[in-house]
Amino acid sequence: MRVPFYDIKAQYDELKSEMDRATLEVISSGKYMLGANHNAFESEMAARHRCKHGIALNSGTDALRILMDAVGIGPGDEVITTAFTFVASTETIVQVGARPVFVDIEKDHFMIDVEKIEAAITPRTKAILPVHLFGQLANVAEIQRIAEKYELIIIEDSAQAVDCTYQGVQTGNFGIGAGFSFYVTKNLGAAGDAGMIVTNDDEIAEKCRAIRIHGMGRERYYYDYVGYTSRMDEVQAAVLRVKLTQLDTWNRRRAQLAAIYNEELRDTGIKLPFTATGNNHTWHQYSVITDRRDELQAFLKGQEVDSMIYYPVPLHYHAPYRHLAEGHGSLPVTEDVARQILNLPIQPHLSDEQVRHTCALVREFTTVRA
Ligand SMILES: Cc1ncc(COP(=O)(O)O)c(C=O)c1O
Repeated sequence: MRVPFYDIKAQYDELKSEMDRATLEVISSGKYMLGANHNAFESEMAARHRCKHGIALNSGTDALRILMDAVGIGPGDEVITTAFTFVASTETIVQVGARPVFVDIEKDHFMIDVEKIEAAITPRTKAILPVHLFGQLANVAEIQRIAEKYELIIIEDSAQAVDCTYQGVQTGNFGIGAGFSFYVTKNLGAAGDAGMIVTNDDEIAEKCRAIRIHGMGRERYYYDYVGYTSRMDEVQAAVLRVKLTQLDTWNRRRAQLAAIYNEELRDTGIKLPFTATGNNHTWHQYSVITDRRDELQAFLKGQEVDSMIYYPVPLHYHAPYRHLAEGHGSLPVTEDVARQILNLPIQPHLSDEQVRHTCALVREFTTVRA
């Protein structure tokens, strides 16, 4: 039985008539930028996260970069973050001229180890950029406590955390703002690249709005900042608005599939995902830990079951970021997790049978092939 890791076409098939109507309406309207869908999607996402402002953009990467620009992070500043993430979290810190400072991750949920943050703070530290991984939030309560104590800015990398909450409070409300990604494979994915900033700060919102369009303020062709071409186009906003109608259902389906995995893989010796206290989990990924990761992945692949490794190589092993750590062994938990993590297929268009079949194969691997 084939088990695909992603099935983006199935999302389209489910919503075909609405998607066709919405995208054709945009194309035939001739209004491709900053139109009605764009504005409505900004309001919908901001309201959903109980934030005052949503600023729709071309990517999650630009969301982080623009937020950092807007709050004035730049040369001479240090930003505390993690090396176990997609490169954009760190790359954007470098792009604004600041220095990423890597703190190791926590072994159970793979996000920043809050116990290690204070030791990394220096007089140059300006911000903490927690990366909310795989569908739940980092320890935002403790991050807020530390940020308050040392007067640091918090920028949430919420690329994978749309709809994530801690004690019922939505991401976007734990710092100056958060950056979402709507990249194709996210729980809420566009038909291409797209992203958004949410923030409660009026001034930062206005600055971000200007920076996303060449720094142009309220008056056309008058520039207040150096900016970028970072708008979300109207077709993407239309697609995202259609998919948004299904997001709750799709996330519930992910939770059902996670429950099957949890039940069926219970005593296999493989370490199962951990949901931190106070968090909801939107199951962007279902991540297990095993020291026979590569063997397990090859075995599953041989049986037509897809899996992915997020992330196989920590950022401090890559040439542009090597100087930011003391080399191999300097972030031991990050390095161990990168060696052992495997993400099993979890997406709303999988059947129970496909997930049970995957579990049976994992069981076979851990018992028969042990
Ligand atoms: C943790 C993290 N940060 C940032 C990004 C960047 O988002 P985008 O791909 O939309 O630029 C991603 C997306 O893949 C991500 O997973």
